[in-house]
Amino acid sequence: MPLLLRSVFVALSLLCPPAFAAPAAETRVLAVPSALNPYPRLPRLTFNSDGTFKITVFSDLHYGENAWDAWGPQQDVNSTRLMNTVLSTEKPDFVFLNGDLITGENTFRENSTVYINEIIAPLNQMKIPFCSTQGNHDNEPNITHLEEIQRELKYAPLSYTRIAPASISGGSGGKYGPGTYWVPVYTNKNDFAPALIIWAFDSRGGFSEGSNSTALPDWVDSSVATWIEQETKLMDSVWGPADQTRGALAFVHIPPHAVQAVWETLNNTINPGLNADALGQGSTQATGEASSSGKDQPFWDSLNTNVKNLHAVISGHDHGDEWCAREPTKDVIFCFDKHSGYGGYSSTGWGHGVRNIVFSSPNPAVGPETWIRMEDGETHARITLDQSYP
Ligand SMILES: *[C@@H]1O[C@H](CO)[C@@H](O)[C@H](O)[C@H]1NC(C)=O
Ligand SMILES: *[C@@H]1O[C@H](CO)[C@@H](O)[C@H](O)[C@H]1NC(C)=O
Ligand SMILES: *[C@@H]1O[C@H](CO)[C@@H](O)[C@H](O)[C@H]1NC(C)=O
Ligand SMILES: *[C@@H]1O[C@H](CO)[C@@H](O)[C@H](O)[C@H]1NC(C)=O
Ligand SMILES: *[C@@H]1O[C@H](CO)[C@@H](O)[C@H](O)[C@H]1NC(C)=O
Repeated sequence: MPLLLRSVFVALSLLCPPAFAAPAAETRVLAVPSALNPYPRLPRLTFNSDGTFKITVFSDLHYGENAWDAWGPQQDVNSTRLMNTVLSTEKPDFVFLNGDLITGENTFRENSTVYINEIIAPLNQMKIPFCSTQGNHDNEPNITHLEEIQRELKYAPLSYTRIAPASISGGSGGKYGPGTYWVPVYTNKNDFAPALIIWAFDSRGGFSEGSNSTALPDWVDSSVATWIEQETKLMDSVWGPADQTRGALAFVHIPPHAVQAVWETLNNTINPGLNADALGQGSTQATGEASSSGKDQPFWDSLNTNVKNLHAVISGHDHGDEWCAREPTKDVIFCFDKHSGYGGYSSTGWGHGVRNIVFSSPNPAVGPETWIRMEDGETHARITLDQSYP
């Protein structure tokens, strides 16, 4: 056992002596270091008894545009209608909000995060567990990623979003990238180790807060690379190696830079789904600054080296893209979300919807199915995220 881990165990056993009458299974749960039990006060997320687990992704909701015009608030009414329609028919086990929740450049210092309450209302009402990561439009002079997360945590009882430790991306609570964390999903409630890890990464971007606002880096900070390595090492040493036992999914608002090259090789039989946004300047990570391409490489390398059974990496940001493709350098599947919000840029025929990801088994060798579901219920671009995907 590594020294660090042993000291975690020692500290833990001093703090939490096992309850005398606890059944064996619960004693084992107590023996997991607190770093691997991040939600002591929330229900454990589990696969259903038939082995399924359904995630619905809302992306680029872009609430809060032009509060002073009729169309801005009407867009938000429409986006809430879409959320209610999708949630009541899809009945997901978990929801991921994949960035650009609010169009922060249109909102006001005194009430920018009020829109978080509008976004979480359907999830609160239907008691659906969820988490979020933020996008470039969630960092503006009048709003920050951290403020959105704090608002969400205050008003959403079933939010599994966490604030990244200060060790990643610097600043208190990871000021420039606070939306980086992971969420465990178990096969059964009392299992010792989870069967699926949902990773959320903060790709930052947008502008810093205040009157002297400046552009922020638009890639996952390199400190996150080290953090991924540390977290996966801890998971492996306590829970056992991931290879046969744990799957993973990763969400990050701005696509990794490597996706740019993949876009040039798309084939709409293999890569079904809308492909209407050319990937250029600003479309992927590390393009917001001149000659900064590749700044997300430490993150990308660490993610693909350390996270085993990674079924897919999923991003929003480019509203006209819905396709999935295998990224050849890392042999990992990348998928775009579906633009969900009525706010944000759009074009005729793109429409609005969600991406569903549906597991049929907690076995990490069995890849989930994924497809786009439009607001009117139409579905398309269905593929399976497994080794058979070309
Ligand atoms: C709201 O949705 C309706 C019905 O889809 C649509 O006709 C209208 O243009 C939308 N309004 C805005 C502002 O998005
Ligand atoms: C920010 O909020 C202030 C005060 O509510 C407002 O005057 C300003 O226009 C807002 N937008 C920006 C981009 O600063
Ligand atoms: C936020 O404040 C602005 C300016 O006072 C107002 O126009 C807007 O309606 C407010 N938004 C919300 C959601 O309360
Ligand atoms: C913003 O920039 C101006 C001009 O450089 C400077 O005078 C002012 O002190 C700055 N304000 C803050 C809050 O940093
Ligand atoms: C696209 O993929 C399909 C299925 O593998 C293949 O039959 C077709 O030739 C490909 N098209 C192009 C343009 O490469």
